[in-house]
Amino acid sequence: MDFRDKVIYQIYPKSFYDSDNDGIGDLRGIIEKIPYLAKLNIDMIWFNPFFVSPQKDNGYDIADYRAIDPRLGTMEDFEELVAKLKEHRIEVMLDMVFNHTSTKHEWFQKAMKGSKKYQDYYIIRDAKANGDPPTNWTSKFGGPAWEKFGNTDQYYLHLYDKSQADLNWRNPEVRSELYQVINFWMEKGVKGFRFDVINVTGKDERLVDAKPGEESKFLYTDKPVVHDYLKEMNRESFGKAAGTITVGEMSSTTIQNSIRYTNPDHHELTMVFNFHHLKVDYQNGEKWTKTKFDFMKLKQILDDWQSGMAKGNGWNALFWNNHDQPRAINRFGDPGEYRVKSAQMLATVIHLLRGTPYIYMGEEIGMIDPDYQVIREYDDIEATNAYHMLLEKGLSESEAFDIVHTKARDNSRTPMQWSDKEHAGFSEHRPWLKPTNYKEINVEKALKEGSIFNYYQKLIQLRKHYRIVSHGGYESFLMDHPDVFAYVRTYKNQKLLVLNNFFKKNTIVAIPDRYLGLSSQVLISNDDRKTFEKQMILRPYEAIACLLTDGESGEQNV
Ligand code: NOJ
Repeated sequence: MDFRDKVIYQIYPKSFYDSDNDGIGDLRGIIEKIPYLAKLNIDMIWFNPFFVSPQKDNGYDIADYRAIDPRLGTMEDFEELVAKLKEHRIEVMLDMVFNHTSTKHEWFQKAMKGSKKYQDYYIIRDAKANGDPPTNWTSKFGGPAWEKFGNTDQYYLHLYDKSQADLNWRNPEVRSELYQVINFWMEKGVKGFRFDVINVTGKDERLVDAKPGEESKFLYTDKPVVHDYLKEMNRESFGKAAGTITVGEMSSTTIQNSIRYTNPDHHELTMVFNFHHLKVDYQNGEKWTKTKFDFMKLKQILDDWQSGMAKGNGWNALFWNNHDQPRAINRFGDPGEYRVKSAQMLATVIHLLRGTPYIYMGEEIGMIDPDYQVIREYDDIEATNAYHMLLEKGLSESEAFDIVHTKARDNSRTPMQWSDKEHAGFSEHRPWLKPTNYKEINVEKALKEGSIFNYYQKLIQLRKHYRIVSHGGYESFLMDHPDVFAYVRTYKNQKLLVLNNFFKKNTIVAIPDRYLGLSSQVLISNDDRKTFEKQMILRPYEAIACLLTDGESGEQNV
């Protein structure tokens, strides 16, 4: 089995299961839930960071790359977790946050105390002549990207929160330190690595202002040197162990660069996350706005990435949800009457595409955004900053709240809903983030009903059984259809037609003649459909995948 056959599950450890009832999820909680994870038949789990951290950005501000945050567990817990998962043939992927460290990391602390060696670990620059920060760059969490470096006249760069200081990747010592971190975890049996915002590591020596109207991100994103860094990292760490799976989180990347990041001949990464398809509900590219998603744009982006990456032998990570995104059902489906159907449809889209599917915890039971009523229910620094930014822009409190409610990352960070008991069965203590809709949506109920969870199980099985799903090519299909995202997968004498109705209404699909008259088999349907016809009326949020085989011979299954 190689990476193409695998499905990866993502766990946000703070919110998965709280074994010691302090309101925060922990590693022992995850150990207790291994039987549940095994039932889904996933192959690898990506864990969001659980390293020592002041938690200003929920663990993406790391103070020690080699130790576990005591609130989440111990190294022994981690070793037990890896061993127990292995018994179920589930591998572990860790999150390497290498663009920045917490300002509480000993490197930054030593830099502050005057160590020249450690000052060169960070991006520290003189103020402009008038005392302003070195450039006009803005932080991704709002405000300037520079903060005063102690009592000096200098500033350090932080593309994220001011407690997350950007590392100086131009310094080979920094790179080597980071590669040793990977090797440390590989020795503990870790088989996968996700690299946080890895394509913003390539900053120039001389940093310049963004021009009026230019976004500062283009001055440091996807620089050619990132390819050199990744090749070196591959050579010095994970590339030494065959079968290690790596995924780069790529901010504002291009297909062309993503081919270079992932084409196996380049020896960089296994696959990349890109986010273009998750910006189709941004007004004028601006996240903190509220607007309906642009379906035709979504189709076009998915299709461009599928065709483009296939052509260049690159590899996509496939996903709708993660800890930074509101729940996909709220954005692209229907959280009300058609929650189950739209959850299944969205899952069909992702799981049958060319690439590696990721399931974000709770997705497999159709979790939706929490129904918070007041701003203080949100925890995330990005959400609270955005709220204030919107008020400053002149929006009313309720308008600003409405936007945050739709876009906050906390929407997906709420505790996993295990049952309809108090605190969603996640803890006996009030959780760090409030779960809201767990009476209707929870694991116990989902397993009993079987609808969404079983559908995910089935999709995972299809990838394992049909080479056309795991290894097949990709062809565009019905690109002009206003309601349906359809595509064709290809393998030897087979074609797999996948049709997904994204709307709450019936819609007609006419299948072109070239696909008729072949032997056909419905592989999955969320509507009990048994046959594939020339004209089909797809019901609201209906999804169907049909395997067509030309002639008798040909490889069917793996
Ligand atoms: C991307 C992570 O997914 C996000 O949660 C985090 O805030 C930023 N990178 C900064 O590390």
